[in-house]
Amino acid sequence: MNVYDSSRMADVVSPLGFVAVREPDAADMIILNTCHIREKATEKVFSDLGRLREHKERRALEGKQTLIAVAGCAAQAEGDEIMRRASYVDMVFGPQAYHQLPEMIAKAARKVDEKGRGILNVDFPVQSKFDSLPQTTTEQNVSAFLTIQEGCDKFCRFCCVPYTRGAEFSRSIDEVYQEASHLVNKGAKEITLLGQNVNAYHGVSPENASQEWGLGRLMQHLSRIAGLHRIRYMTSHPRDVDQELIRTHAEDPKVMPYIHLPVQSGSDAILKAMNRKHTSDKYRQIIEQFRKARPDIAFSSDFIVGYPGETEADFEDTLRLAADVQFAQAYSFKYSPRPGTPAAALEDQIPEAVKSERLNRLQDLLRQQQNAFNEGTEGTTQTILLEKKGRESGQLVGRTPYLQVVHIQAPESMVGQIIDVKITQSGTNTLHGEVVSA
Ligand code: 5AD
Ligand code: SF4
Repeated sequence: MNVYDSSRMADVVSPLGFVAVREPDAADMIILNTCHIREKATEKVFSDLGRLREHKERRALEGKQTLIAVAGCAAQAEGDEIMRRASYVDMVFGPQAYHQLPEMIAKAARKVDEKGRGILNVDFPVQSKFDSLPQTTTEQNVSAFLTIQEGCDKFCRFCCVPYTRGAEFSRSIDEVYQEASHLVNKGAKEITLLGQNVNAYHGVSPENASQEWGLGRLMQHLSRIAGLHRIRYMTSHPRDVDQELIRTHAEDPKVMPYIHLPVQSGSDAILKAMNRKHTSDKYRQIIEQFRKARPDIAFSSDFIVGYPGETEADFEDTLRLAADVQFAQAYSFKYSPRPGTPAAALEDQIPEAVKSERLNRLQDLLRQQQNAFNEGTEGTTQTILLEKKGRESGQLVGRTPYLQVVHIQAPESMVGQIIDVKITQSGTNTLHGEVVSA
């Protein structure tokens, strides 16, 4: 979502004459779009800021002004702290305020804020943000992102999202349809619908104002856009999977057979403590239902190890769940206490060494599963969307329906095409293939 937000920020400032540059020294304005999900992400903000200060000072010696902005969820959560520790920062604003960039830039450039200091803007007007964002003017990648939902009401006890992104909010179906059509006109062949809890999506039906459509119906609707070939979505919560969504996977060939469905833990005691509101068996059942509807479907997931109170037996339940499901890919993290979240205040925090040891064991298993999944595609023919040029000459990079990266030899003119490729070789992160038919 930060990638999407960053590109929307670029759309907002482009009428002011800003264009993207590669090096900070060439930039009149630098926006750090930050993440707050784990402590590591937030620490990075302060170390990056230290480096950017040097750019600002060096450019000042040449008589050039450099505006430094901190955006995103770390700005939302730690705005005051950022202003206090880094007084050279000109603007600090949360994920719901970036449509106000033109005003903030004007103010910051003149430093007319009451205190004569940087500008802090951590308000929460989600709808007004979407209402005032301009249409994107830049050519889109073949694969584009589209935020359809923001925020979350689930309050998992480890998670900062309900505090940084705010309450669950869904954009209207018409608005989403229009933006999707526009992205397709700008060159997108694939769209990934984004939201912190994207399958909580609900929009008033354009056919009947007394009905609401969920994510499944929305995708069926978007599927009518002629030049749109692939639809994906992330991230989903097991609790918000409904029959319509499962049916959509069975019936709509544009909806890709690959779902990111975070489970976090395989232990019922930990799931309960986390306030996930589902059991490990419920998760297994949901996976079963999807597989019944669409036998070739594959899954990825998120895991947290070392949640407060997690015992060795709890962790083994997580290993068992992973072994049962067989993920195509997965992310796993050590639990990171986030200020202000309920879990951070719990006393039975798990020692770092135990977290690391568990993370290693889980990641070994998940890597084996990923290798096995990739090996399973060797010798098969996969439909690939060719996304961009590869690093080697004559090479293109594309993706299978399962998001696997595939390298093939093909001319650059084929970027954007969807073609059949025979997979000749697989590794953990990349596949190699040969064009079968163009
Ligand atoms: N510590 C570790 N991982 C976390 N996540 C969210 N909050 C935390 C935390 N406090 C992980 C979850 C989520 C993913 C986006 O980040 O697994 O699904
Ligand atoms: Fe955070 Fe996801 Fe839980 Fe919402 S559902 S609180 S975003 S982990």
